[in-house]
Amino acid sequence: MDRREFLNTTLPRLAIFSVSASARSKELPRLRELAARKNLLVGSAVSYAELQQVAFTNLLAAQASIVVSENDMKWQRIHPEPDRFDFARADALLSFAMQHGQKLRGHNLCWHEQMPNWFSQVTTPENAGYLLRRHISEVAGHFAGQIHSWDVVNEAVHVEDGRPDGLRNSKWLQLLGPDYLAIAYRAAAKADPKALLTYNDYDIEQDGPKFDAKRKAVLRLLIWMRQEKIPIQALGLQSHLRAAAKLPGWTALHQFMTAVEKLDFQIFITELDVNDSDLGPDIEQRDRLVADLYRDYLANVPQHKAVKAVLTWGLTDRDSWLNSLSRRRGERLRRPLPFDSELEPKPAFQAEIDAILAASARA
Ligand code: G3I
Repeated sequence: MDRREFLNTTLPRLAIFSVSASARSKELPRLRELAARKNLLVGSAVSYAELQQVAFTNLLAAQASIVVSENDMKWQRIHPEPDRFDFARADALLSFAMQHGQKLRGHNLCWHEQMPNWFSQVTTPENAGYLLRRHISEVAGHFAGQIHSWDVVNEAVHVEDGRPDGLRNSKWLQLLGPDYLAIAYRAAAKADPKALLTYNDYDIEQDGPKFDAKRKAVLRLLIWMRQEKIPIQALGLQSHLRAAAKLPGWTALHQFMTAVEKLDFQIFITELDVNDSDLGPDIEQRDRLVADLYRDYLANVPQHKAVKAVLTWGLTDRDSWLNSLSRRRGERLRRPLPFDSELEPKPAFQAEIDAILAASARA
């Protein structure tokens, strides 16, 4: 290791891992401040339960300049009955964000998961367009002017369904055909002209045939949206990554991102986490390989100036969606996020710092 590498990596690492636990939260580098110098937003998804815990909210306030509700803006939570909307939990996150100078992402307005039970009972091909427009008008209208970006449609591409256009054979597609995308984005633009309207999806990131097929279908969708003059400003790369002994390649991702930039889209990393379940039991080694993947991914994606925000899907391992699955299945707990279950920083946090320090400033 040369002197520069030593200063860049080892000293900050020692600073994080040598102070006492009580002093640590105060002395931790603030990712949001480091990122602000590069005009980059950083943050994470948050649940309502987490928002009730002081130690967690202190950490979130110190580290994040942008937050997103993990579940509380989805149809099931926010639209529990046909004629009733429940904004209480999402409003709580909005007021936390405003209090701490953070931006808020909206997630999401149209998805095939987490739909309320009433939906399938009342919806027909005839009224589906009205119901979608009404939901978006109410929800995006409620938060109008206060949302950084809305994931308007989430995960509309699923090449495994075998359609030539790559679209997912979702309930929305069955009810309305591909036009549901145009309906959703036009309704969102009308309800909140200030929000950056985003398309959000997964499995776009690493090299490999499965990811190639997904990238091709997503790019095709974005081109179609531009041709149809559908109002949309950004692409969300969810970035649910999987650690392995060897790092993946990102060559195809770079080409894809360049093509997306040429279509004049901003790009947000919306749901970054690293699943470590394919790794061995040794925690130190798992944390190192997870951090290596964070470092490598974040050394690559922000090379594209279109990347304006990086959010992890949760902040601490304790509350990661991957661990709800692990607990349900009685599997070993996973360590996918920058902070551990005691809210202590992990090597992945250091990797984020290194990557942000190394990133060039954007406009
Ligand atoms: O709140 C209920 C609770 O009342 C009930 O007792 C319990 C029983 O299972 O379920 C609870 O709801 C769960 C909810 O998470 C809150 O914990 C749902 O069952 C569960 O399906 C839901 O999972 C969420 C999942 O999306 C499905 O909506 C995860 O928390 C959330 O992290 C995950 O997030 C998605 C993004 O929205 C889109 N991209 C992928 C990402 C990960 O799957």
